[in-house]
Amino acid sequence: MNRYQSISTNRRNEIADLAIMFEHHKDLTRFNTLGFTAYAEHFCQPDSLVACQEAIRYAQQKKWPIFALGGGSNLILAADIVGLTLQMANTERDYQPQQDGSMLLRVGAGVTWHDLVMETAEKGLYGLENLALIPGCVGAAPVQNIGAYGVELADCLVAVEGLQVKDGQPVVLTLDECAFGYRDSIFKRVDYQAGGDKQLIITHLQLRLQTVACPVLGYGDLAACLEDQIESQTLTPLAIANAVCTIRQSKLPDPKEIGNAGSFFKNPIVTEAKATALKAIHPELPVYPAKKGFNKLAAGWLIQQSGFKGIRRGCVGVYPKQALVLVHYGQGQASELLALAGEIVTGVEQRFGVVLEREPQVVN
Ligand code: EPU
Repeated sequence: MNRYQSISTNRRNEIADLAIMFEHHKDLTRFNTLGFTAYAEHFCQPDSLVACQEAIRYAQQKKWPIFALGGGSNLILAADIVGLTLQMANTERDYQPQQDGSMLLRVGAGVTWHDLVMETAEKGLYGLENLALIPGCVGAAPVQNIGAYGVELADCLVAVEGLQVKDGQPVVLTLDECAFGYRDSIFKRVDYQAGGDKQLIITHLQLRLQTVACPVLGYGDLAACLEDQIESQTLTPLAIANAVCTIRQSKLPDPKEIGNAGSFFKNPIVTEAKATALKAIHPELPVYPAKKGFNKLAAGWLIQQSGFKGIRRGCVGVYPKQALVLVHYGQGQASELLALAGEIVTGVEQRFGVVLEREPQVVN
């Protein structure tokens, strides 16, 4: 029995006893994939719904704001985190086969995303395989609606479960209520952030996966990588996940080796008129469809053409194999990375008239 369970089972009344759930002045260097050093004033990792409710209640009594930390893979720590940093550590998975052949999966927020992808792919389930090797944990996935190789989380998400920070009560948000967009969701809105009146701690995701083959192979060189399996009709979700891993490893840095937060900027969405005008001047510019009347441009291409690919400024730089990824080589500060990001935004705007938007969340 762990500490959380023993506390919640005994329902101790004394707040002082509950304080053992928390660590103080916690070094977060290993809790953010960029590897910047910052401290959490208070820190806890509830491994169940009840433990999370206890932590919320305690933080409310202490008047600590709560910061929900996921895998720290989309985070720039430019300052210490005031109040309670709460990282869900519940890892339950519940698979429920459905009569229509699909599989409903309820999964705890603390599961490592890539582990879930490989587990479902190994079970022969389609849905998550294109999202292999995305760093982070399950609970953070809906916040930016993680996406890669033509698939995004929203494609198989049924609902998000969480606990309200204001009163610890459970809530369930349906797919529509999550208001997913490209790298966007309701969870990015100010009222859902720390201190907002709708803030919640995401505790579980409900996903619908498929047992019938439904591969998505249209993006980039994915189909080419799987040519043999397609030809021999031996394609599986696991083969796709492995191919995605190979492609990602060839162009994206492993956070265990070089600090990074994946794509640092979103691919910008511009009007069709603007995209057409740019394409006339730069015929090789990658342009993708977006919502009606708009196109998406490749930020990596814009950054490379503006001369930033592979540059280094002290301890930080632009990854030489993918210009959309900013890296921290160690011993640096978040302020250096943000200064480099500012330099890139200005450079790209001056050259192309397009303003890049940062993707990771900044704590400052
Ligand atoms: N490109 C360049 N130079 C570069 C990088 C890209 O010219 O340095 C060009 C490529 O040649 C290609 C186009 O830009 O024509 C798109 O590149 P890529 O397929 O590598 O994808 P991306 O648009 O740069 C997005 C996601 C990635 C995701 C890939 C694959 C965003 C912000 N990024 O990158 O997501 O893995 O597509 O689906 O949407 C992440 O979010 O952290 C991430 C890595």
